[in-house]
Amino acid sequence: MSLKYNLKRLAIALLRHNVQSSTNLPAFNQPTLLRALYFARLLSSVRNVEGAIVECGVGEGFGLAVWTALSMVEPNHRLIWAFDSFEGFPKLSKDSDNMSVEESLSEYKAFTIPYVLATLQQFGISRSDINRRIAFAKGYIPESLSLYDGKPVALINIDLDIYDSYKAALEFFWDRLAPGGIAMFDEYNKAGDIHKWPGAQKAINEFLDARNLRESLQRDPLYGNAYIQKPGLENRVQLVS
Ligand SMILES: C[S@@+](CC[C@H](N)C(=O)[O-])C[C@H]1O[C@@H](n2cnc3c(N)ncnc32)[C@H](O)[C@@H]1O
Repeated sequence: MSLKYNLKRLAIALLRHNVQSSTNLPAFNQPTLLRALYFARLLSSVRNVEGAIVECGVGEGFGLAVWTALSMVEPNHRLIWAFDSFEGFPKLSKDSDNMSVEESLSEYKAFTIPYVLATLQQFGISRSDINRRIAFAKGYIPESLSLYDGKPVALINIDLDIYDSYKAALEFFWDRLAPGGIAMFDEYNKAGDIHKWPGAQKAINEFLDARNLRESLQRDPLYGNAYIQKPGLENRVQLVS
């Protein structure tokens, strides 16, 4: 799917919901626009994969708003799961995370569900669309993973920053990812991530090595983020025949 097509698709999703007339329109600066386009590219590449979208780590809700806007122009209805404590980060791992960032993470305590609802509404997403399309899973991972309904996942965006959270989410959702589905990693060997979020990269590497998947890691050429696509149905059929 071309970049031009994805840009058009995102623009349609936003325009349809009158975002352009909102006085509180969040500014799309260059990194956030590139990120939204990256989301659109990966969502279009799983268009034939049935399943939910999972946003693991919601923060102020920017990514969740983009997923919701994009899914509004998708032919299939996909439920979007929003996993977060909605009250800030858990404790970091002294062995794996960079403890010097811990203090700066206190700002995430402000990103409660009402705060995220306000972000979504700033994007022009109505309350009825929020209710119909988004399942909020509030609580700390791994305990909150029990809220998941167990249905297949087409796309998961993991943006949890720290070791224990990444490890638990990745292990839980990989087994629920449909063939051809994609797991996206917000922190992986990109512009200083290794210094700020060493735990995320460590958890991803451990997971990839344990499942012999390192070679399958891909990187978006424009945005630079890493992701992995689960081998598709056709590969499984070939293995069986
Ligand atoms: C960088 S933010 C996510 C940003 C978001 N994806 C966006 O697009 O704006 C990381 C989030 O992960 C959440 N988080 C990290 N570890 C968690 C855990 N174990 N359980 C629940 N939430 C967690 C934090 O509360 C924080 O809101």
